[in-house]
Amino acid sequence: MERTLVLVKPDGVQRGLIGQILGRLEARGLKIVALRALQMDQALARRHYSVHEGKPFFQGLVDFITSGPLVAAVFEGPNAVEVVRNTMGPTDPAKAAPGTVRGDLALTIGRNLIHGSDSPDNAAKEIALFFAEGEILSYQRATEGWIIEP
Ligand code: RTP
Ligand code: MG
Repeated sequence: MERTLVLVKPDGVQRGLIGQILGRLEARGLKIVALRALQMDQALARRHYSVHEGKPFFQGLVDFITSGPLVAAVFEGPNAVEVVRNTMGPTDPAKAAPGTVRGDLALTIGRNLIHGSDSPDNAAKEIALFFAEGEILSYQRATEGWIIEP
């Protein structure tokens, strides 16, 4: 089953939106298989956002993502990467449709509340930055057959 990394960024923690953001993904039917709160240091932030190194917003992004605690989660489910990205809405909240996390709860690109991996390959790399393989749970929910057709 596909997995993806989700971060509730420091703005989401400060605004008291952890439960609402994770709850939307949970309510969609995705399964939480790993979860922790942490504060990223500059080295981890630079690795996590290495594809953006050299871009004008890179240092601001690293400073923001390390500015306070965040919540990291691994969600699992069919097409988890795409489902999370669609639930997040596009990078710029001004362009995000109502009903998405960013379209309902955010206004500007530098304070867009949530990160979700953009491909299964990147998801695997990002998950490994935050969790050891042994920290990722394998379990069945009693509701599984009501969410995913067996
Ligand atoms: P994220 O990686 O944080 O989940 O967001 P994303 O995939 O939707 O967007 P991405 O292109 O990966 O950009 C990472 C973060 O950098 C900031 N950004 N600023 N000023 C700009 O043009 C600009 N472009 C990107 C955003 O905060 C974005 O979430
Ligand atoms: Mg991204």
